[in-house]
Amino acid sequence: MPRILVTGANGQIGSELVATLRERYDHNQVVRLDLQPPSAPDGEAPDGPFAVADVRDRETLADIVARYDIDVVYHLASLLSASGEQHPDRTWDVNVNGLKNVLDLAREHDLRVFWPSSIAVFGPSTPRENTPQQTVLDPTTIYGVTKRSGELLCRYYHRRYDLDVRSVRYPGLISYKTAPGGGTTDYAVDMFARAAAGEDYTCFLERDTCLPMMYMPDAIRATLDLMTADPGEITVRDSYNVGALSFAPHELAATIRRRVPTFSCSYDPDERQQIANKWPCSVDDTAARTDWGWAPEYDLEAMTDDMLDHLRTGEWEGESAGA
Ligand code: NAD
Ligand code: SER
Repeated sequence: MPRILVTGANGQIGSELVATLRERYDHNQVVRLDLQPPSAPDGEAPDGPFAVADVRDRETLADIVARYDIDVVYHLASLLSASGEQHPDRTWDVNVNGLKNVLDLAREHDLRVFWPSSIAVFGPSTPRENTPQQTVLDPTTIYGVTKRSGELLCRYYHRRYDLDVRSVRYPGLISYKTAPGGGTTDYAVDMFARAAAGEDYTCFLERDTCLPMMYMPDAIRATLDLMTADPGEITVRDSYNVGALSFAPHELAATIRRRVPTFSCSYDPDERQQIANKWPCSVDDTAARTDWGWAPEYDLEAMTDDMLDHLRTGEWEGESAGA
């Protein structure tokens, strides 16, 4: 049974990935790492092994890998697109130097690594519809620059050192358990949370801004399917496009309104609009489908039903971190 380290484990993806990995493998085989301890009910210790560390601190990371005898790393620690524009130096440091620390440790200890890239690697010269796997990559944000740099670093380590590092370009992820942390696609989660609370919503993107999105259960399944695929099936070693849904804010608002007739959405775009304008509407994920059988399960209607059901039963931890 593999011993697993998840960095950035307190975040939107990490919190759900850890729970799924702990169901699938032995609870104590999965170690969470983040800048803070995981939250726990008052007076109780956090559930399962965890380490408090900064991924930029190579020595501490090495100690953790050795102490827990780690075999596999899901390296999620990162700043996202909107917070990245507020802290470009830190974003480079965490996203690129943190990744290099993980890749170097993986070389030394023969670890398998998952590292997520993003639709942020695309830019204004990239075709916006059905964006190909191989295409122009001209990111305009520091976040996108770190993601494309990370993709190239992963592919280099695979070719040069035969490191088994695997990656997908997640679209905007939608979930109800943990608030997203400083992304441009966070509006969708915010809109659901407001609607479920019986409130109206002012969207920080324009009504017609179409972006690729994915529901968290599909994202977790994509991650685990890629990580358990036979190495011989993996032909893309920078990062796979993975598609699921594409919609604009007004389409999401209309889908919610069919279930919450009183819900109203207005539009007041801010600086995140400039980021979203450079990203695609949909991606061509033929390579992921062919190589390791990727196929999403949730469409917009099914996701909306599931999100509202869970949010109405109180499974929501608060405001989006937004930007
Ligand atoms: P998040 O912001 O919710 O969580 C990131 C976590 O990383 C946080 O808990 C934060 O405390 C931690 N972290 C930040 N700096 C750190 C450091 N120096 N050392 C240790 N931990 C640190 O992000 P997320 O949405 O869970 O994203 C996880 C990964 O997936 C990131 O690489 C992100 O770029 C990628 N991704 C996410 C989305 C999305 O829509 N959520 C889309 C594309 C790609
Ligand atoms: N959802 C992420 C963001 O908006 C994309 O990587 O930053």
